[in-house]
Amino acid sequence: MSPPVQIRRVDPFDTVEHNQWWQAYAEAKRADMGENALIWTLEESRAEMQQRSENTERRTYVAVLDGAVVGGGSLALSLKDNLRSAAVGVTVPLAHRRRGVGSALLAHIEAEAATADRTILRAETAWPASAPDDGAGQPGIEFARRHGYTLALSDLQNRLELPVDDAIIDELLAEAPAEGYAIRSWVGPVPDEIVAEWAALDAVLDTEAPTGELDIEAASADVADYRADEQMQALQGRTSFGTVALTSDGRVAAYTQLVVSGDDGNAYQWGTLVRREDRGHRLGLRVKLENLRMLQRHSPETPRIYTYNAASNAHMLAVNTRLGFRPTGRLGELQKKADRPRAPRPGARA
Ligand SMILES: CC(C)(COP(=O)(O)OP(=O)(O)OC[C@H]1O[C@@H](n2cnc3c(N)ncnc32)[C@H](O)[C@@H]1OP(=O)(O)O)[C@@H](O)C(=O)NCCC(=O)NCCS
Repeated sequence: MSPPVQIRRVDPFDTVEHNQWWQAYAEAKRADMGENALIWTLEESRAEMQQRSENTERRTYVAVLDGAVVGGGSLALSLKDNLRSAAVGVTVPLAHRRRGVGSALLAHIEAEAATADRTILRAETAWPASAPDDGAGQPGIEFARRHGYTLALSDLQNRLELPVDDAIIDELLAEAPAEGYAIRSWVGPVPDEIVAEWAALDAVLDTEAPTGELDIEAASADVADYRADEQMQALQGRTSFGTVALTSDGRVAAYTQLVVSGDDGNAYQWGTLVRREDRGHRLGLRVKLENLRMLQRHSPETPRIYTYNAASNAHMLAVNTRLGFRPTGRLGELQKKADRPRAPRPGARA
């Protein structure tokens, strides 16, 4: 029998409520991934939830049982693209699992997504490198399968301890001379003369990279939205390191971005993409190596980089292995499609 779990929407401006949501989220993530759990810090998540974004509506929820918070959930609705989709998240700390809390949260969030006319539900779950490749037996995967989600795409999570020896970077750079292209790197916001093309490449990243079974559209490439997100990242204490390869007429042919968290100090690899007409010149490798070199010079205290790669991207994985990246886990992208929006079931329980 399901427990009498109450689901409550969180006010991100209420410090106590947001902290309770974050505690449940962080504890649940750490339970499965230990030191390799990639957790947004309390302040990073607060800044994101408080942002009045024009392109994404975000909501968080807590599950309450006998007056105590026993789980957290999230819902993100893109407002300018992917209008049939919703990103859902459910996190239950170890002590409260297998009592129906996750199912109650998911039912509530799915009902809210249906009310917003979203028929494609997406979620993510991580499992450690020691687990089977397909995540069999892992809580997130088993829970998601039980609720009708399929594994649409699986990425490898890799970790690189810094610094990388300059000699290794030079050796790899020699394999990617990028002749005919100019390299430009910077720390902080994307320069004005580059931002429109950068935002356009960033917006198609999810559809140009391997998408597996994901039913996904390119994101909108609004420069004002991009700048608003950069401002939010500044509030979050994050620092961006960007590198582009420019054609002889100044067009952005390739871009890459590393973001350093002001709290845990780690660097995270964000997007890397080469424009279609400029592929085949190893520009992706070039910009990544240049960016890594800049990161090591400007931020020598950064201890490590985390990145995700499609398991099918054998070439990039081979380069990453030469740089010293080691696998730490997998990230599964889950998807469930409803034929049409279901009737809202506020307060529904599984
Ligand atoms: C996945 C998670 C939310 C499940 O929370 P929960 O409160 O334990 O889930 P429920 O009790 O509602 O489980 C419902 C069903 O899912 C399946 N399930 C959940 N955890 C499972 C596990 N460890 N092994 C096998 N099946 C599992 C079972 O069928 C379970 O029903 P049962 O207990 O009657 O057998 C929780 O483990 C978690 O926070 N994991 C980390 C974050 C994550 O991966 N979230 C999933 C993204 S949607």
